[in-house]
Amino acid sequence: MLQGLTTLLEEVVTFIVVAAMVLWLSPVVGAASILPLAFAFIFIRNYNRRVKSVYEGVRRRLGTIGSFLQDRLAGIQVTQSFAREAAEEQQFATRADEFFRTSVEASRLRNSYFPVVSFFGFLNNLVMLGVGAWLIMEGSGWFSLGALIAYRGFWWRLQSPIRTIAQTSDILQRARASALRVLELLDAPVTIADRPQARCWDAGQGRVEFQDVSFSYLPGKPVLAGLSFTVAAGEFVAIAGGSGSGKSTLLNLVPRFFDTTGGSVLVDGHDVRAFTLASLRSEIGYVGQDNYLFSGTVEANLRYGRPEASQAEWEAAARAANAHDFILGLPAGYDTEVGQNGVKLSGGQRQRLSLARAFLTRPRILLLDEPTASVEPESEALIHDSILRRTREGLGTTLLVTHRVDLLRQAPRILFLEGGQLVGDGRHAELILSCPEYADAYHRWEETEEAGTGHSA
Ligand SMILES: Nc1ncnc2c1ncn2[C@@H]1O[C@H](COP(=O)(O)OP(=O)(O)O)[C@@H](O)[C@H]1O
Ligand SMILES: [Mg+2]
Repeated sequence: MLQGLTTLLEEVVTFIVVAAMVLWLSPVVGAASILPLAFAFIFIRNYNRRVKSVYEGVRRRLGTIGSFLQDRLAGIQVTQSFAREAAEEQQFATRADEFFRTSVEASRLRNSYFPVVSFFGFLNNLVMLGVGAWLIMEGSGWFSLGALIAYRGFWWRLQSPIRTIAQTSDILQRARASALRVLELLDAPVTIADRPQARCWDAGQGRVEFQDVSFSYLPGKPVLAGLSFTVAAGEFVAIAGGSGSGKSTLLNLVPRFFDTTGGSVLVDGHDVRAFTLASLRSEIGYVGQDNYLFSGTVEANLRYGRPEASQAEWEAAARAANAHDFILGLPAGYDTEVGQNGVKLSGGQRQRLSLARAFLTRPRILLLDEPTASVEPESEALIHDSILRRTREGLGTTLLVTHRVDLLRQAPRILFLEGGQLVGDGRHAELILSCPEYADAYHRWEETEEAGTGHSA
């Protein structure tokens, strides 16, 4: 900014000095040639103003793309889990298109600069040489050859504004480089994609079946090994196990955030890879420990997975997640801005909003990965309540990863994992007797919770 001001000042001073020198050398030649020079000056000033606002537009649009991408890339798992990729792509395309149009305008403007300035230069030279030559030939002594040469020298000094403008093209170069990086990212290979024959999974019952599933993130380091179990449609199952036992990985295989490395995951009797990702994920809800909220209002976040839902529907979803009351208590209710990644909400409020967002899509299968791990106790009870109510009301299958003892005691069925293998399957009362690994872990969790540090365990 300051740099721009000094440059402008320098241009004005240069112009005045050059004009004064020229008038002093010869008032007639000066007056005659200052006219095109004055036009050139006005043009340059206007041009500078134009170019500044156009480049500002380029910069602002790039900034918009940048913050949009930052927000959406940070929330990419949410986008994937709600199968909203196409809508996001459309939004990105609109922003990219605006950026492209302003960029084109900027380069068109930049390209018009040199021809116009050279034309003024040509006009100035023509007038100066014509009038100067005429005065010299007339021999009245008003003008000399030396003066003409000196005068031309001064004119060259006006080249500096040209250089200044040329430097601004740098900005454009940098913008281009950023855009190229974005394109690189968009072109990154997709490892999980629809198979050519993929079908739509519709009106599913929501039965989940693991058939001899094994999985490894890195070759030679199995995380899940020979996992087999069936969860009936509408069943509520708690998944428990020590840290690193593979619980999160197991959940991730159902909506195909990852594909199995051996065996298959089936929904309603069909391999998940037989279905299109969009249809699979739009029927599966996923709420993790920390769910990204997009910057925007509570309502926009709530409706993310199903923007066409009616107000009655999204309010019902918020009630079902025990979120409606706290939302009404926010400064602007459903219109409250949640801030980047929902920073203006407490951990428990964010979780309840995420749960409501998932409920709104009425998922046949709901996957919950320690949803109360970083939540205040009041919210925890409300979240547990809403999860159990969903099952009671027969709204779909629920797989819940948890080590909260009250939930484990209430769960109709627990799958207990250790080292990526299923070592216990049954009710709490059964497992505590029949599965020593579970009994050990359960007592450990119970102690941690009694010590009041359960939230970080
Ligand atoms: N993205 C990943 N890349 C490599 N290893 C991973 C990744 N995610 C998890 N793991 C490893 O897989 C194992 C199981 O992890 P996880 O499913 O998160 O366990 P849990 O949820 O039961 O704590 C751990 O040993 C963990 O280090
Ligand atoms: Mg985990």
